[in-house]
Amino acid sequence: MENPITSKCCNHQPWFVLLVFFVFCIELFSFDYSGFTAKKSALVTVLDDNHGTVINTQSSLPHDFTEITNASVYPLPKTDEKGDLKVGTEIDSCVGRYIFVHDLPSRFNEDLVNNCRLLTRGTDKNMCPYLDNLGFGPEIENPEDVLINNSWFLTNQFLLEVIFHNKMKRYECLTNDSSIASAIYVPFYAGLDMSLYLWGFNTTVRDSASLGLVKWLSEKPEWKRMWGRDHFLVAGRIAWDFRRQSDNETDWGSKLRFLPESKNMSMLSIESSSWNNDYAIPYPTCFHPSKDSEIFRWQDRMRRQNRQYLFSFAGAPRPEYQNSIRGKIIDQCLASKSQCKLLDCNYGTTNCDNPVNVMKVFQSSIFCLQPPGDSYTRRSIFDSILAGCIPVFFHPGTAYAQYIWHLPKNYTAYSVYLPVKDLSEWKINLNETLLRMPEDRILRLREEVIKLIPRVVYASSRSRSETLEDAFDLAVKGILDRIESVRVMIREGKDPSIGFADGDDYKYTFSTYDTSMLNHFKIFHMV
Ligand SMILES: *[C@@H]1O[C@H](CO)[C@@H](O)[C@H](O)[C@H]1NC(C)=O
Ligand SMILES: *[C@@H]1O[C@H](CO)[C@@H](O)[C@H](O)[C@H]1NC(C)=O
Ligand SMILES: *[C@@H]1O[C@H](CO)[C@@H](O)[C@H](O)[C@H]1NC(C)=O
Ligand SMILES: *[C@@H]1O[C@H](CO)[C@@H](O)[C@H](O)[C@H]1NC(C)=O
Ligand SMILES: *[C@@H]1O[C@H](CO)[C@@H](O)[C@H](O)[C@H]1NC(C)=O
Ligand SMILES: *[C@@H]1O[C@H](CO)[C@@H](O)[C@H](O)[C@H]1NC(C)=O
Ligand SMILES: *[C@@H]1O[C@H](CO)[C@@H](O)[C@H](O)[C@H]1NC(C)=O
Ligand SMILES: *[C@@H]1O[C@H](CO)[C@@H](O)[C@H](O)[C@H]1NC(C)=O
Repeated sequence: MENPITSKCCNHQPWFVLLVFFVFCIELFSFDYSGFTAKKSALVTVLDDNHGTVINTQSSLPHDFTEITNASVYPLPKTDEKGDLKVGTEIDSCVGRYIFVHDLPSRFNEDLVNNCRLLTRGTDKNMCPYLDNLGFGPEIENPEDVLINNSWFLTNQFLLEVIFHNKMKRYECLTNDSSIASAIYVPFYAGLDMSLYLWGFNTTVRDSASLGLVKWLSEKPEWKRMWGRDHFLVAGRIAWDFRRQSDNETDWGSKLRFLPESKNMSMLSIESSSWNNDYAIPYPTCFHPSKDSEIFRWQDRMRRQNRQYLFSFAGAPRPEYQNSIRGKIIDQCLASKSQCKLLDCNYGTTNCDNPVNVMKVFQSSIFCLQPPGDSYTRRSIFDSILAGCIPVFFHPGTAYAQYIWHLPKNYTAYSVYLPVKDLSEWKINLNETLLRMPEDRILRLREEVIKLIPRVVYASSRSRSETLEDAFDLAVKGILDRIESVRVMIREGKDPSIGFADGDDYKYTFSTYDTSMLNHFKIFHMV
């Protein structure tokens, strides 16, 4: 994530420690894997091909589940007074897709929006204007020739939770009858709440809303049906902000996701953690088309763009990045002169919040570099896709291990991967490497990227007849599948808590995405 307000988080981030530890262990080769992950030693988890849903391949003894009856985990199809299935003229297309939205006390959502002035404390700008247009922000008044009219907004990257909630209010399969719901949505604005207290507040204050929320939820009748395993949250900040592992005041964030009730729920956010109950969904970009035709028009335009730069990078050349790949990237970009365009978002004259400026550069570039920043991910990934600019990734945690519901599993089909495992050994010359790419490969990659555009936008309200699935639709599908797989486990008599909220230490290491290490990965997991 690009915004400087997160810059504190990564000094203490567990992923880095885990990554270093893992690489260290591989090096030693003799490390005792079974001791390292003792709690998982008997468990084999695999990723489902289509959805990345964690499937437990080990059958296990049920425990704690005696109260869950087979019927209670099955949302029943609608019946008439006699209990007969409503069949005949129409089949209910919402069966299996009904979502019940908890009517939370306003302090968990609406109050945060209404007090948007206070949110300014946690961000470096006034958040109020960004809450316009159901969280899309103000419409861009002067799209120049870069954007298309009426579809682009000044969207703040942290407002996913507000956008998602507003889109959910128009979801076609809402129900007020929780007994037929396949999922329970908890519209807590966790990120906005957190942004009030991330800096200079003690852990008691930071955890206060989270504790209140889980208490409220666990007292509702909906809780007991599956003990929260059919509940999900959506957060507009990275999941690490809610994963404080101790009560040491110097640790970052809240412990929302380590509360016992919260462990039973799933959370969707702009960047997931390495725990299995966190899922990543795209950052909100500034493009919110209201008709499929606007998307088709935009895609056509991106196909026809004249791309004068071989590659570009939009980001902040900050001194603390000298020891990261960013420093090298910036140096190489400058050395490549007219082949590379550097968009300086921090000190330069360019305002990177205005999509006109970012899109102008990305639309003119063949490749867009996406190094990790303060955290693994950046909104820029999705800006690059929108512009038909082929993303170049340096770490599997930036996209491949994140957006499993939205981006293709075969990452070589839409991106270039230049992993940086050890900065001192990374000797790639970007200009030469990218220049060597054959023209037909570039055309195929770009076409794949352009095809992804509808999947990564949060569309404005659309009429039913339209056919494209947007980022919201895919997120809803993903979470419904996830919850359904938990129901299947319960039906089969398995304990759904197995694997549900486990930490997966390997999720964001290079091993999964590097064939030379894949064998070690497999061996370790089979021990
Ligand atoms: C649970 O319900 C499903 C679907 O109605 C049925 O197929 C299955 O046999 C039931 N299992 C038990 C243990 O009753
Ligand atoms: C877009 O809007 C501008 C003014 O806001 C107008 O001058 C221009 O003609 C519009 N373009 C199209 C294609 O409608
Ligand atoms: C649920 O109940 C509220 C308040 O009674 C009502 O406004 C809303 O339309 C209902 N929603 C559905 C999907 O029935
Ligand atoms: C935490 O901060 C709040 C207000 O900022 C204060 O009232 C409270 O006593 C503090 N708690 C602890 C344990 O320091
Ligand atoms: C809290 O963390 C800091 C910095 O990591 C450390 O110096 C300190 O000893 C820790 N305090 C406790 C009580 O563990
Ligand atoms: C979490 O779910 C398990 C069953 O999977 C249940 O035993 C436990 O009580 C739940 N925790 C809470 C806090 O509800
Ligand atoms: C390619 O980049 C290197 C630095 O990484 C630079 O020395 C070289 O001049 C560049 N070549 C061209 C053709 O721009
Ligand atoms: C992945 O995509 C590449 C490039 O399009 C293709 O050559 C390769 O066969 C694909 N791999 C799989 C497993 O589909």
